[in-house]
Amino acid sequence: MDNRIHIFDTTLRDGEQVPGCRLDTKGKLLIAEQLEHLGVDIIEAGFPISSPGDFESVSEISKLVKDTTVCGLTRAVQKDIECAAEALKHAKRPRIHTGIGTSDQHVFTKIKTTREDIIARSKQAVKWAKNFVDDVEFYAEDAGRTENAFLAQVIEAAISEGATVVNIPDTTGYCLPEEYGAKIKYLIDNVKGIENAIISTHCHNDLGLATANSIAGIQNGARQIECTINGIGERAGNTSLEEVVMIMRKHNWMKSDTEIDATRLNAMSRLVSETMRMPVQPNKAIVGSNAFAHSSGIHQDGVIKNRDNYEIIDPAEVGVDESSIVLTARSGRAALNYRVEKLNVNLTKEELEKVYHEFLKVADKHDVVDDKLLKSMLSEYLMTNVE
Ligand code: KIV
Ligand code: ZN
Repeated sequence: MDNRIHIFDTTLRDGEQVPGCRLDTKGKLLIAEQLEHLGVDIIEAGFPISSPGDFESVSEISKLVKDTTVCGLTRAVQKDIECAAEALKHAKRPRIHTGIGTSDQHVFTKIKTTREDIIARSKQAVKWAKNFVDDVEFYAEDAGRTENAFLAQVIEAAISEGATVVNIPDTTGYCLPEEYGAKIKYLIDNVKGIENAIISTHCHNDLGLATANSIAGIQNGARQIECTINGIGERAGNTSLEEVVMIMRKHNWMKSDTEIDATRLNAMSRLVSETMRMPVQPNKAIVGSNAFAHSSGIHQDGVIKNRDNYEIIDPAEVGVDESSIVLTARSGRAALNYRVEKLNVNLTKEELEKVYHEFLKVADKHDVVDDKLLKSMLSEYLMTNVE
């Protein structure tokens, strides 16, 4: 089995569960096409039995996508699995993703059954799915809150029926990174046959730990990360694809890396945000509008001297043209001069000093001093029109 980290994108399934972000088939196809160009290994295209529209989307994506695995979600229910198999029948590489809740909370309160029954249903679900496809992923819903010994039994049962991937979701975003990492290690150490399957992380962000937990999973032996563009998903969202990809790349500890073309990340983020009508928070890592903006004097001076002083990612690596020096009342002379020079104006030291004091008065009245304001300020000071 290769050592590479597989990127499983669930923007079109878990991501699309966000209220107000529903996509029609056209929108899903647009995103799926770009996900394939981005280089994800698996596209979870939807939950085929959930609606006729979602069935159609999974089916059309299966026809469109060339080499990437296309996956459909099901419950551990025969009719769900048959429906997913039908929707995926045109896919070159189809995967059925089936599973059931395993935490005591889910077993006794949601499903209202016994642990023995959960094991039996898990085995049955994988067996049904295997009738249609070779590639069957099994999820143990709420694995994050499932007792490790029982989780190991369920995972072993799923692998014994031929599950090729076993997904360990922290469905409620409850785990701490050490706890989640230890869970993965426990499964590696205690599940018979685990070497025959890829372990997958699927972390939710309720405590803001989805990315940290996914990385802890990988550090402990998981080989697939389930994630979404911009980290969208149920409640506080899922692990963000752009974050895990760039963490692996920057830290270089996973030589195997991924197949992702990171220069497409920025455009991908915009496409998902616009198509799903979901704005990206400005301070979002990697793809937020402020991710490469410097606004305080100390930082700006440092970046102008050498970008590496305050930037760990070259913006071009993720498809951003260049980082920006934003002029605010916290900016210093170096930033002002930098932006003035960008307008093809060269000031002497004395001129800069005077303009800087004028600039501070203007900046105190505005959130940002943009080029328009700067030009009018300079025109007034130099008594000539600055274009
Ligand atoms: O969060 C979760 O447990 C899920 C499963 C259905 C995989 O999304
Ligand atoms: Zn989920």
